[in-house]
Amino acid sequence: MTSRTDLLSALSGIVGERYVLTTAEDTAPYATDWKRSTTGVPACVVRPASTAQVAAIVRLCGDSGISIVPQGGNTGLAAGAIPDTTGGQVVLSLNRMQTIRSLDPIGMTVEVEAGAILQTVREKAATMDRMLPIAIAAEGSATVGGVIATNAGGLNVLRYGMTRDITLGLEVVLADGSVSDGLRHLRKDNAGYDWKHWFIGSEGTLGIVTAAVLRLVSVPRHSVTALLSVSSLEAAISLFGHAQQEIGEALSAFELISANSLDLVSRHAHLKPPITTGDWFILLEGASSLSGLRDAAEGVLAGGFENGWVIDGVVAESEAQARQLWALREHVTEAEARNGPSLKHDISVSLSHLREFLDDAEAALVDAAPGARLNIFGHLGDGNLHYNVLFRPDHDQKAINRIVHDAVVKHGGSISAEHGLGQYRVDEWLRLAPESDLRLASTLKTALDPSGLLNPGKILPFSLPHTKAI
Ligand code: FAD
Ligand code: MLT
Ligand code: ZN
Repeated sequence: MTSRTDLLSALSGIVGERYVLTTAEDTAPYATDWKRSTTGVPACVVRPASTAQVAAIVRLCGDSGISIVPQGGNTGLAAGAIPDTTGGQVVLSLNRMQTIRSLDPIGMTVEVEAGAILQTVREKAATMDRMLPIAIAAEGSATVGGVIATNAGGLNVLRYGMTRDITLGLEVVLADGSVSDGLRHLRKDNAGYDWKHWFIGSEGTLGIVTAAVLRLVSVPRHSVTALLSVSSLEAAISLFGHAQQEIGEALSAFELISANSLDLVSRHAHLKPPITTGDWFILLEGASSLSGLRDAAEGVLAGGFENGWVIDGVVAESEAQARQLWALREHVTEAEARNGPSLKHDISVSLSHLREFLDDAEAALVDAAPGARLNIFGHLGDGNLHYNVLFRPDHDQKAINRIVHDAVVKHGGSISAEHGLGQYRVDEWLRLAPESDLRLASTLKTALDPSGLLNPGKILPFSLPHTKAI
């Protein structure tokens, strides 16, 4: 086993001494997750500047029997980028690898290093009248490598799909330190296995993403944004069908916000909604290069009133007003965090079973966690809700998780729609996943990372020899 001094000196030899962080003060920002609910103890944080340096670090750690936790912007909501508390894991931060290698407005692609900040890439694409269609409220810190490793969803999945649908090519450092170069800029490529998909959503457990080619779209010339309050969840779902009919493929967001969520935003982010009556609110967006969206949105509103689905509504009159409406939605996560502890559930259920899921979960929670408040919001158009429980200290958190996830599984849903399993949902996934899913996951992990070097304890609960303090 390598001594700590030997390890630090060898890492310094690869990246330079100033890029190996060792003191508690320097490593602190990398050791606690965004939500501040999980803190690990890294052996050190290493910050490579190139793919070759990443590969050398992986080889060194492999030879020394030390595991690696890849980290991007550390905005993940499942603590996947946080090391364990043994002091035996190296955090490998990609935050020095931010180069945008090329942007092709004709081929509609961008090739970028993994540590590039999502917002920076989006802004760069916008200068060429192109859009990178991955929209999340954490875009100012989240990285390209992180969104790929989590297969992030977000606010425009309805129109453009998940990160998986936007990723054309990857460069990955494998567990043996070799580099797989798949930085292809192609829409169509059926030559052999499409291996990039093994790494998208693998949360750093199968390889380290060092660069990617992402698909761009043209910037929609017209958009319309509306906030509506609806009479019930069923009304919201009916309205969604109506909006799809009226706005068609230009419907780019159909987000649900509960009155409780708006209350949190109002109390902790001091943002007030222009309409307040009702228990459920919908933020709807249409975006297109063709005009006529405003008429279509007003048609949705009129049909909504006629059918008794909509109680009240406002269509943004300007870009500035649209941004204000979006701010209400985008501040829910931060407001919830400021409010105090919460148990996040990132679930998806088919829209046709969503009502039954909510009824079952709520009925069971009333008994198991009396007095708990719910903060429900999310991407209704994708059947993805953030069903978050603002629990009290006397509530049994494990029981709450089980109740919500049992109801999800009962109605054919997923316990992780977009945030991943990280370390928070490993036990629940093991408890609830079909045996064949677990067997395939284990086969893939064993094939690509036989010594369990990469992010052990995330997704799969491998206990490894590498997690002793050094
Ligand atoms: P990190 O948090 O650093 O890492 C996340 C995981 O990816 C970890 O398992 C880590 O080990 C792994 N990883 C990171 N970089 C690499 C790499 N280069 N190679 C291999 N593995 C790597 N998520 C959504 O899906 N939709 C949303 O709408 C959304 N909104 C959010 C809003 C807020 C306010 C916040 C705080 C978070 C939100 N998230 C959302 C969650 C989060 O932003 C995403 O999961 C994002 O993709 C994480 O990117 P990151 O760079 O911060 O990754
Ligand atoms: C969102 O939809 O706002 C994000 O996924 C963040 C969250 O779940 O809190
Ligand atoms: Zn979300």
